[in-house]
Amino acid sequence: MTQDSIKRGGFSSSFGVLAATLGSAVGLGNIWKFPYLTGANGGAGFLLIYVLATLVVGIPVMIAEITMGRAAKANPITALQRLNPGKAPWWLIGVAGMAAAFLILSFYSEVVAWVFAYVIKAIDGSILSSERRVAESAFGALIGDPVQSLLWQWFVLAFIGGILLLGVTKGIEGLTKKLMPVLFVLLLLLCGVSLSLDKAADGLAFLLRPEFSKISAGVVLTAMGLAFFKLSLGMGTMMTYGSYFRDDQNIPQTALRVMAADLCVSMLAGIAIFPAVFTFGFEPSAGPALVFMTIPAVFSQIPGGHLLMIVFFVLAAVAATGAMLSLMEVPVVILHERLGMSRPKATLITIACLMLLGSTCALTNNVLAGVKVFGLNLFDLFDFVSSNILLPAGGILLALFAGWVWGADRFNDAISNKGTLSNAATARVVLFLLRYVSPLLILLVMLKGLNVF
Ligand code: PHE
Repeated sequence: MTQDSIKRGGFSSSFGVLAATLGSAVGLGNIWKFPYLTGANGGAGFLLIYVLATLVVGIPVMIAEITMGRAAKANPITALQRLNPGKAPWWLIGVAGMAAAFLILSFYSEVVAWVFAYVIKAIDGSILSSERRVAESAFGALIGDPVQSLLWQWFVLAFIGGILLLGVTKGIEGLTKKLMPVLFVLLLLLCGVSLSLDKAADGLAFLLRPEFSKISAGVVLTAMGLAFFKLSLGMGTMMTYGSYFRDDQNIPQTALRVMAADLCVSMLAGIAIFPAVFTFGFEPSAGPALVFMTIPAVFSQIPGGHLLMIVFFVLAAVAATGAMLSLMEVPVVILHERLGMSRPKATLITIACLMLLGSTCALTNNVLAGVKVFGLNLFDLFDFVSSNILLPAGGILLALFAGWVWGADRFNDAISNKGTLSNAATARVVLFLLRYVSPLLILLVMLKGLNVF
């Protein structure tokens, strides 16, 4: 009896860890960013590079982050100080991670704002149509209106702040865990509907038949940046989550499962969207608007579609909330543990900063439409700098730190839980990748993609 409960406790807890890590990984990166970037960058070729990037670069960095977090059991800055045997300021990676969190949250909260606004639009039913004109004008009216964009974003930030202040994060995570399977089922249903559309074959071909002519260095960098973004890597989120991992948790196995499940959700989103894009005459390269235009079109094809569309946007909001909470955890925990602020104060300061910084992203498509830096509007700039520069750079440094500075012995000891987990062969491969392959590859892709050579 006692033994049983210990075993069950162990299992459910290790499932809990998997679910929480997945909760951070699966979010708008899967439902919104992945489809639109795949569409804008030529489809299957991009997908292939993305998958390669997750395997060669994403998985090792994820394993390194979680392993270091578990070994140090602290926020990223303190963790890097604790694990560092020397004096070099590796803890600065934690500071850069915090900056990345602010940049990402600034535009992420605006996309979540669109999702929240679409819940209301879904309820009133006005967007339930497969007509391109209706879809374009609904989305255009929302992002073109500064008041709506700003108010929805501040509502989202206040909502997330409320969750954190009330200390119901655990409850929300519990809820996310329960609701994610429903989102999965809805996506499956959408795929079924989409695959029955007239031009389903064209959509699938676009997603699965690579055309290598569309691939440039910039596209490879975008795919790699997406891998970091989608798996929440390079900025300390996974390190922070690692600090909550149990010692007997097999990290490489968990990382592989997270990557596979995350890819699965993205593929389902892609299969739900691209057949509809071709059937209803949307543009695959429509950019950030893609999901908001095609999903209602697919729902308009089935009985009960109105209700299901409402459920879909609510669930997308839930998934996004889970990812946002994990993003916010990094600055909040740093302010709390490093500057000695209480958690509520750290939360309020984070939210206040985001209301200011984030408003530039809410106003990007209206009042600030003319403002361009390096040819990019502020929304795209924040996205570009975080995904294509800060996260990969964080990845390089974390890989180098884990592989060379922290060192093979300590790494092996931590990943195998002092030799009690039999994952030595995997650990050797991961360490090799972390030392010789991932940092070089990321650096090359970054420099080439940024046109440095
Ligand atoms: N992975 C999340 C998503 O796909 C976003 C995220 C990025 C979360 C970085 C945490 C850290 O939506």
